[in-house]
Amino acid sequence: MTPTRGTASGKAILFGEHAVVYGRPAIAVPVTEVEAEARFQPDAAGSGLTIVAPDIERQYQLVAATEDDPLAAIVGLTVDHLGTAWPVGELHVRSTIPLGRGLGSGAAISTAIVHALARHYGADLAPAAVSALVYEVEKLHHGTPSGIDNTVIAFEQPVYFIKNQPIERMRVGQPLTLVIADTGQTAATHEVVGDLRQRWQANPERYETDFDDIGAIVNRARQIIEQDAADVSDLGRLMNDNQNLLETLGISSPALQRLISAARQAGAKGAKLSGAGWGGNMIALTTDQTAEAVAQALKEAGAAQVIVTTIR
Ligand code: PMV
Repeated sequence: MTPTRGTASGKAILFGEHAVVYGRPAIAVPVTEVEAEARFQPDAAGSGLTIVAPDIERQYQLVAATEDDPLAAIVGLTVDHLGTAWPVGELHVRSTIPLGRGLGSGAAISTAIVHALARHYGADLAPAAVSALVYEVEKLHHGTPSGIDNTVIAFEQPVYFIKNQPIERMRVGQPLTLVIADTGQTAATHEVVGDLRQRWQANPERYETDFDDIGAIVNRARQIIEQDAADVSDLGRLMNDNQNLLETLGISSPALQRLISAARQAGAKGAKLSGAGWGGNMIALTTDQTAEAVAQALKEAGAAQVIVTTIR
């Protein structure tokens, strides 16, 4: 029987992580240089579904999966949503998106599975429906996710995102060149978010002020990104301002600081961490001319992986 395939790209948060959990806006973009892929091979004579995930060295029967297994969860949610029979055969899942580094690996894998199964059943799911299904699984990973990862990955477009509000697709006035570098350190998003939540509970006024400041940066950044002839230096300064606030919030790490400094010294217009922090990836805004030098400087500063991407 014919296999069906689904893919989804990675994502990077340009502005507004963490504050977005507290109702402030954030901006995120797809990163198409990395992707997750799911391939469903139906087997009419088989019984049940086998999930094959070589990246995490796992192969198991869906019926044997634990309740919090994210791959089994997205299969179940998709089948319920489509109102179809349970798939029988093998579901192969692969990803070039590093796990736990703020590039949306979990949401991308879930999205790829929804796409592969929807294709198998001949269903045409709107991005909003895909996003809603993936959000349910994000809750298993994160506890209190804002929903930005599933949204930007399901819509495959730059988004201006506010929790619980309809998404706003963003127009990018002129292409933006980003260099994304991985510290090689994994941080669990729910731990960073949980730690900040405890500190916020102890001193809400202080943290609310920082979140407001981040929200104001996001709104200024949106205006610049949407302009046709924007000065990217202004956007770079806003990235640095956002990073200063993230440092104040205790979200950065020595490895992130090292990469951020290296990128700025090599001529980046601005640089900041991206995602949950305490590790994971940082992003630098460059021009076409400086991207290579910044990428090289990041490798020399110890980056585990460097991606150059253009946002349009
Ligand atoms: O999943 P990550 O590492 O990209 O982090 C998500 C960004 C946060 O704002 C920290 C959490 C959230 O739910 O938005």
